[in-house]
Amino acid sequence: MQRGTLIRKDPARWRVQPWLVDLEAARAGFSWQAVRRELLGEAWADAPDPPMNIGHLAVDRHLAGGSVPRGDAQAQAEATAPARIALRIVGEDGQPHSLDYAELARSTNRFAHALQQLGLQAGDGLFVLCSRSEPLYVAVLGALKAGCVVAPLFAAFGPEPVATRLRIAQPKVLLTTRSLYRRKVAAQRAAFPFLQHVIVIDDDLPGEAAEPGRLPPGTLDYAALLAGSSPEPVPAPARPTRASDPAFIHFTSGTTGTPKAALHVHEAALMHHATGRWALDLHGEDVFWCTADPGWVTGTSYGLIAPLTSGITSIVDEGEFDARRWYGILQDEGVTVWYTAPTAVRMMMRAGAEVALGYDTNRLRLLASVGEPLSAEAVVWGREAFGLPFHDTWWQTETGGIMIANMPAVTIRPGSMGKPLPGVDAAIVERGPDGGVRVIEEPGTQGEIALKPGWPAMFRGYWGDEDRYRRCFADGWYLTGDLARRDADGYYWFVGRSDDVIKTSGHLVGPFEVESALLTHAAVAEAGVIGRPDASGHEIIKAFVAVKPGIEAGTDLRRELLAHARRRLGPAIAPKEIDFLPWLPRTRSGKIMRRLLRARELGLPEGDLSMLEPPPEPAP
Ligand code: WT7
Repeated sequence: MQRGTLIRKDPARWRVQPWLVDLEAARAGFSWQAVRRELLGEAWADAPDPPMNIGHLAVDRHLAGGSVPRGDAQAQAEATAPARIALRIVGEDGQPHSLDYAELARSTNRFAHALQQLGLQAGDGLFVLCSRSEPLYVAVLGALKAGCVVAPLFAAFGPEPVATRLRIAQPKVLLTTRSLYRRKVAAQRAAFPFLQHVIVIDDDLPGEAAEPGRLPPGTLDYAALLAGSSPEPVPAPARPTRASDPAFIHFTSGTTGTPKAALHVHEAALMHHATGRWALDLHGEDVFWCTADPGWVTGTSYGLIAPLTSGITSIVDEGEFDARRWYGILQDEGVTVWYTAPTAVRMMMRAGAEVALGYDTNRLRLLASVGEPLSAEAVVWGREAFGLPFHDTWWQTETGGIMIANMPAVTIRPGSMGKPLPGVDAAIVERGPDGGVRVIEEPGTQGEIALKPGWPAMFRGYWGDEDRYRRCFADGWYLTGDLARRDADGYYWFVGRSDDVIKTSGHLVGPFEVESALLTHAAVAEAGVIGRPDASGHEIIKAFVAVKPGIEAGTDLRRELLAHARRRLGPAIAPKEIDFLPWLPRTRSGKIMRRLLRARELGLPEGDLSMLEPPPEPAP
């Protein structure tokens, strides 16, 4: 795949007029009615709880010619929508196949019909436990069309996390693959009496004997269900879904242990669609690659919903991360807009910018990132490797969609998360002892990010835990648990999760600041920083560092890194101790698990590890 010659990075040879040019004007004149008008039509723009279905908005709407054209090129693009590629799926072996909008409509109709024939009704739960592949996307959209509430799970979850999540939401249907069923569900099936149907995709994982046609007892064959049902449009369920009806459950890790099941509604698609424009600038011609797994909210909000409501092509990679594989996909698929995570960016940086120069990624015109702080180095590295900076975006499972971002319409300040999107009312606040919330107006002061409820993708509950949900709100604000500063120009700067913040002598230190300083050293690949309590009741800043390939981690380097950090940060917040690790513990979505670093350091229980990413393969 790699070419011998170095390819000049000269992206954006084709340009588009960005959707959003003047952020202030867009914020000032903003109303969600305009987005409703476009997606639902004039008649429903002002209705209190209009009929609405994400499956319909993402797929069928394009066939009916209901998309609103904009400009000539866009009109052209929209006119051919049914034959446009909706999903372009790169197989594990690197072979891609495509589904156009018309095919996607037929398959999702078939699955929706099949569910209706099984007796499922609007509001019934369906879990999906399978890796990124065509059936996953077809099933999610088909289930939404049938009015089901869908929870996509990471295929890599073991039997225990699968059971925990099933018990929380008690779905009626589980869709999984034959091998995953055998390894993770079969033995404990009796413990899930609520599960009325298990639908199984007949796969053959390497190393498992092929047994075509022999499905486990008590399961239904996915392919047979599809083949046996009609591709015609699904008649509206007896009760068509409305904007406020539940569509998704997304599990997110609680810091303490039990996963939280955030509930999202159909109306959320208004937000996915609009933020797809403002933050990701999706246009009719785009080939968009969101690298997240749908087991994580990013993989559904932006891997599935936003690109499809926009009528563009969404790339799905069935394989796992590998720097050369990813450069190959960017090149071969002609990706134009790429949405990924800092952990992937760091891994690509680790492989070296020279590797990037072997691939022609010049179709790219926008790079964006989410999930963790994006260090200034990563923003700058984007320029080196792709000729483009990374645009950071900030949001949470609970917010359902992008809230704060370095939108193309704002000048990037490297290291900052950017500004609130149109329709997003954000503030830096302080919680008082009385439970009240005070908005901090002074620029540069650290506080918690708070959001005014009212954006369509806001979560509507934690399934089965009303109390926990209620505690997220105070004084008319949703409190995010993230600490940040806002500068005088309105840019937000991430400080840390409030649980991760370190109380050292007289200072509150966000681990990200210390980690960023360590990452500026050429030997450092990854850094995770925690507070370790000392005798005086304060915390000592301790760093865990993984070095780049070929670097020797030892006393000399430790001394050098301590001095490097001290020079950049000053003695008060520089780490006092550094330990080297071969890799840092991360969640499957790429976040450093500082909670685990701390637990291991202090010899405390490690807590819920279902989100822990298995260690990387040793380098060949
Ligand atoms: C937490 C949310 C991220 C969407 C998917 C679900 C951290 C997210 C950033 C960013 C610094 C970030 C926050 C947030 N986070 N984006 N751009 N810079 N931190 O994510 O699993 O619910 O996690 O991720 O701490 O609260 P999630």
